[in-house]
Amino acid sequence: SIYPDVKSGSIAIARIIADLIRSKQASNEPCVLGLATGSSPKTLYAELVRMHKEEGLSFKNVITFNLDEYYPISREAVQSYYRFMHTHLFNHIDIDPANIHIPNGAIDKSEIKAACLEYEKQIEAVGGIDLQILGIGNNGHIGFNEPGSGIYTKTRLVNLTNSTRLANAYEFANISEVPRMAITMGISTILKSKQIVLMAWGPAKAEAVKRAVEDEDTEQVPASFLQNHDNVTFVLDEAAASQL
Ligand code: GLP
Repeated sequence: SIYPDVKSGSIAIARIIADLIRSKQASNEPCVLGLATGSSPKTLYAELVRMHKEEGLSFKNVITFNLDEYYPISREAVQSYYRFMHTHLFNHIDIDPANIHIPNGAIDKSEIKAACLEYEKQIEAVGGIDLQILGIGNNGHIGFNEPGSGIYTKTRLVNLTNSTRLANAYEFANISEVPRMAITMGISTILKSKQIVLMAWGPAKAEAVKRAVEDEDTEQVPASFLQNHDNVTFVLDEAAASQL
């Protein structure tokens, strides 16, 4: 779907999320959301906070799994995705903190494998992700699945490309401070979600969107693997859709 601007596109996604939360509430079921970070979802999270405050949307039945986290990074660091999620969403809604899951970027390297396996198990234990929200990197990455990530990848430690570190350097004092690694859900983890919504705003994303949607699926553009899922929506503004 194509919207005139970020605000209207974000409101549309917030409505999809709110409708799902409410329908799960009506049948007394948990609603399992996969969440993304970066600049793209900020307006979406602001709209969800507004719906909580002004429309009484409750998140009591919501369980969340975030896509990724830098490695290494402490939870308190201003650039951590743990901090991002609390600042933009979790601190302002009535979600049970026990229902929040974010890969831990502060653990010892020797514990990462077990923690990644555990993350996959936690997702399975609650019945899988009902709705996964995604952004897209300029190079076509989803989560931190950089080009070269295969369709069968699971939650794991990955190296970040220089282009991704450059794109995210604005959050840090300088590029040398951007972590070189991250823990991310894999492509197969993402594809197991029942429904996927990818958002992209602005001209910088237009080429990645085009390659993801119109070219053959390839490891070179990890978002193109979404073509293998039967319930995916790309929510775009006109600039991000300009090359379609
Ligand atoms: C980041 C995140 C992704 C995000 C993407 C785009 O590094 N790991 O989950 O979708 O890159 O970021 P932005 O929304 O800031 O353009």
